[in-house]
Amino acid sequence: MDLGIAGRTAVVCASTSGLGEGAARALGAEGANVLITGRRAERAKAIAAELPSATGLGVDLLHLGAPEQIVDTATAAFGPVDILVLNGPGPKPGTALEVTTEDIDKAVAALVRPQQKLVSLVLDGMRERGWGRILAIASTSVIQPIPNLTLSNIGRAALAGYLKTLATAVAADGVTVNLLLPGRIRTARTTAVDSAVAQETGRTEDEVRAEAAAAIPMGRYGDINEFGAVAAFLCSAQASYVTGTAVRCDGGNVGSL
Ligand SMILES: NC(=O)c1ccc[n+]([C@@H]2O[C@H](COP(=O)([O-])OP(=O)(O)OC[C@H]3O[C@@H](n4cnc5c(N)ncnc54)[C@H](OP(=O)(O)O)[C@@H]3O)[C@@H](O)[C@H]2O)c1
Repeated sequence: MDLGIAGRTAVVCASTSGLGEGAARALGAEGANVLITGRRAERAKAIAAELPSATGLGVDLLHLGAPEQIVDTATAAFGPVDILVLNGPGPKPGTALEVTTEDIDKAVAALVRPQQKLVSLVLDGMRERGWGRILAIASTSVIQPIPNLTLSNIGRAALAGYLKTLATAVAADGVTVNLLLPGRIRTARTTAVDSAVAQETGRTEDEVRAEAAAAIPMGRYGDINEFGAVAAFLCSAQASYVTGTAVRCDGGNVGSL
């Protein structure tokens, strides 16, 4: 299927590896002009060089001024931003009993503040042009909070509440706003988590991964390309009547409908 986004300007935050990379590669394969971002400038440029039309930017999303730098770079390279994929680092783990007020500030600073700023920089243009796609890579924790990821649960729920409210406000302007919820897609982050569990429990990383995979109805972790394909569809011309929703890409892992 041709997704009808050739020539569109797409910004994919935190796309030098993992889920963001999967989304960026899928958008690039559809002919979108993609800005790859992450702290590793060389990696961003290397991925961009493999896509038909892309450029890479080394930027720390959590630094003040990063959203402006990202939007300015994309606009200068390709024109106004049509597709904004929000993504970034997850906060540190911890139980609800361990959370401090300072931790909450940091979770909002990582999971809400830069995302809202990015949206505010591109939204007027999208509405004026009558076409826009805003997609946030979140987590299935938005539906089913994950034990020991309290800060992630808090920050992602806050972002989801903001974006759902925004989706309604701009629905008549041709701008869709959605969430894509990954659950155990194999990336550097899941490998690091599995490795930490292996060290804590004295098992091998393969044993830990096999046990986690067995708990997923599909019996395996997802692949970033499977995830990227769903992301690209939600940013497509065809997904024009899909807004204000959360789509799961989790191998059936969340138990509720
Ligand atoms: N994989 C899953 O199953 C899963 C499930 C639920 C939620 N998530 C969430 O999805 C997000 C992406 O995770 P992932 O699994 O794709 O992990 P990953 O493979 O480790 O990728 C993380 C990406 O974020 C970038 N990044 C990290 N800190 C950054 C910063 N301060 N500024 C800009 N970019 C930064 C990294 O690039 P640089 O190192 O170049 O900065 C990299 O491109 C995370 O928030 C994670 O918690 C993942």
